[in-house]
Amino acid sequence: MSTVSDVPLVDRVADLRTAVDAVRRQGGSVGLVPTMGYLHKGHQSLVIRSATDNDLTVVSIFVNPLQFAEGEDYGTYPRDLDRDMEMCAAAGAGLVFAPVTEEMYSQTPITSVTVKGLNAVLEGRVRPTHFDGVATVVAKLFSMLGPGRAYFGEKDYQQLVVIRRMAADLSLPVEVVGCPTFRESDGLALSSRNVYLSPEERPAASVLWRSLQAGRDAVAEGSRNPDEVEAVMAAVLAAEPKASPEYAAAVDAATLARPDVLGGELRLLVAARVGQARLIDNLGVDCDRL
Ligand code: PAJ
Repeated sequence: MSTVSDVPLVDRVADLRTAVDAVRRQGGSVGLVPTMGYLHKGHQSLVIRSATDNDLTVVSIFVNPLQFAEGEDYGTYPRDLDRDMEMCAAAGAGLVFAPVTEEMYSQTPITSVTVKGLNAVLEGRVRPTHFDGVATVVAKLFSMLGPGRAYFGEKDYQQLVVIRRMAADLSLPVEVVGCPTFRESDGLALSSRNVYLSPEERPAASVLWRSLQAGRDAVAEGSRNPDEVEAVMAAVLAAEPKASPEYAAAVDAATLARPDVLGGELRLLVAARVGQARLIDNLGVDCDRL
């Protein structure tokens, strides 16, 4: 990895627009990778994908206050712009947009994007204002630069479903591209919040992946009862003394609704606390291809 980043950094919306418009005027395509920074290989895999698909890849780095509730980790969310710039350069980004809060929200917004229903299940039960904050900032980013494609990780599966639905409902001229979850060798999904794990807690964090695999195995062995599959996942979480489970769910992959009988494309999702870290993970299971 290069130690000196040569990727341009802009912090003003006007400068972002000028740079992106110049590429588009030449007929170039623009991809956006929205992030909150403190980048890791999972973020980089999105940038690499976008750089393959598009002439210009813009990475936005903005810790969005709207998606954090009182008492969550907004103030302590890890930040390191210099390191992020290097990671962006190494992955093929053409521009980094890192606005200050006042540039993003020059006045307190009284307009909010709500993807009804999808914002209230699973993570939305624990974090009721979270997805409105995410949808609103992503809608703003889409308006600010008008990307032809935007890249989101399956790591935050519910977020991906929310953004897809927002783009469809509002006819936004952007292709929302979902990208696979990048994992450590023991299955732990990379996350900026993994830095909250102490060395003693770190091995326990793989319990989310073990729980998802147990759920998938139960479906593969023929279980079509959501209660049963969820109980299998919950039991794996409960068996890890360092983890405090929050939920284990088996839902329809497109609607996030909980079916009476499992079938078609499913998504298994889990959430648990390990020490100071609140971790989420998920896995796709296609009942017709097991
Ligand atoms: P952040 O958590 O920084 O994640 C930015 C993007 O990277 C998201 O699309 C997320 O799903 C993806 N990502 C995170 N970990 C990943 C992994 N291990 N493998 C693959 N992709 C991964 O998600 C957000 O920021 C914010 O909510 C945002 C969309 C930027 C709106 O503020």
